[in-house]
Amino acid sequence: MSITPDNTAVHPDVERVLVTEEELYARNKELGAAISADYAGKEVLVVGVLKGAAWFLSDLTRHMTCDFTVDYMAVSSYGAAHKSSGVVRILKDLEVPLEGKHVLIAEDILDTGLTLKYLIRNFLGRGAASVEVAACVVKEGAQEEKIDVRYVGFVLPNEFVVGYGLDYAQKYRGLPYIGVLRPCVYGE
Ligand code: IMP
Repeated sequence: MSITPDNTAVHPDVERVLVTEEELYARNKELGAAISADYAGKEVLVVGVLKGAAWFLSDLTRHMTCDFTVDYMAVSSYGAAHKSSGVVRILKDLEVPLEGKHVLIAEDILDTGLTLKYLIRNFLGRGAASVEVAACVVKEGAQEEKIDVRYVGFVLPNEFVVGYGLDYAQKYRGLPYIGVLRPCVYGE
């Protein structure tokens, strides 16, 4: 008996798949190699922004050969809606001090940029030696804050997306691809 869930069929709530499982794997491999080359000889602390980045972080770090440790931070900026509230709240803080550390933030998606702006400032304020960002998705033209994302997975149109860690009202995170929901799911 197979223990693997059958996620190969596209979920009925998904209108279009924008990034396939194969494309995610290939891009993570490229990003992991680039990060490993850039941090060779240094130790990097990879900070995952929960909950969405857990899928990206876990796949990305499988391709990293440099020395790294992992910690997680949980922040909330959306609530149950699919529009940003613009307010960043810390729900879970890091367990390790950042003084003198090279930090790489692993983020699921860069939308307005409010979350990353807050985190970068916060981490530099705690004495991090450097703070860089790896974002699985960057939404084109959505940024209200200019964020320098060193490692970009995919640049996608400014639409609400789900899957590969990204949720709508806490659902759809486990989809192995990134896609757009049918408008009727939002009650539109
Ligand atoms: P930002 O602060 O507006 O850049 O958004 C940060 C957070 O909002 C991300 O880490 C996601 O959790 C969430 N988010 C933004 N856009 C989307 C989306 O299209 N789908 C699901 N979550 C999103």
